[in-house]
Amino acid sequence: MSSEKKYTPPNEMPPAPIHRVLAGQKALVTGASKGLGEGIAIGFGQAGADVLVNYHGDEEGARRTAAAIEAHGGKAVIFKADVSQEDEVKAMFQYMIDTFGRLDICVSNSGIQLNAPLDEMTLYQWQRVIDVNLTGMFLCAREAIRLFKKQGIDRRISYAAGKLIFMSSVHDIIPWEGHANYAAAKGGIMLLMKSLAQEVAHLRIRVNAISPGAIRTPMNVEKLTSPEIFDSVLLRLIPCKRIGESEDVARATVWLASDESDYVHGTTIYIDGGMTLYPGFIGAG
Ligand code: BGC
Repeated sequence: MSSEKKYTPPNEMPPAPIHRVLAGQKALVTGASKGLGEGIAIGFGQAGADVLVNYHGDEEGARRTAAAIEAHGGKAVIFKADVSQEDEVKAMFQYMIDTFGRLDICVSNSGIQLNAPLDEMTLYQWQRVIDVNLTGMFLCAREAIRLFKKQGIDRRISYAAGKLIFMSSVHDIIPWEGHANYAAAKGGIMLLMKSLAQEVAHLRIRVNAISPGAIRTPMNVEKLTSPEIFDSVLLRLIPCKRIGESEDVARATVWLASDESDYVHGTTIYIDGGMTLYPGFIGAG
């Protein structure tokens, strides 16, 4: 290979695991009609869980996710709710109990981006991103914790009374110009997660977060379909030189929801190919 030739590593990842570490568990995943939520809900189905698939706009996507879960032998139902609306969130958790009788795992995943430089950002853009990405996390967390407390521990199902996982982002610690609303919400999730984890750990309720980097999801479609942005902008920020797949996030989320991670409380797992390793310092500094 000549030194000028660009080395492009293959986008290879290990095959899917087959352990059914969530057998018998009931999970609720918000924003599961596409992207990371879809991958996580299907991963839960593969691991043996029954899943409530929440969606807001994309009913067809939610149906596809549910069908994929059922193909793995799990039960799946879909439920439309805007996670920023208190009454809709309450109705969704009620439906969860009416359908499955309990809640073992809640993944608060729904998230949006409405980008603008701060001096051009409308109050709507600010408010809507905070409402969905942060207030939605609070509303779902509150309902989940209430249920976890009420049901307590059933050792036949899990050693925890419940597991709550917040979907955050590398932008809970990496500043992002042009996305101040998004980064503010994600930074907020960090201390919401830690404060709540501290509050409920003694009840054996586990609260943690996942912070993905650049993953191949509809949210990132523009970046991925532009070879120029992909090669020269995005890959420059990823030391391991491959874009993440939603399975990368799903597998870690399955582990974090299972008893395999029983001693893990109040932690953020970064799944980012090294994006948080200050890649700008490679060959510099
Ligand atoms: C965003 C992506 C972005 C990634 C890394 C994620 O939180 O949703 O759009 O590519 O962070 O910057």
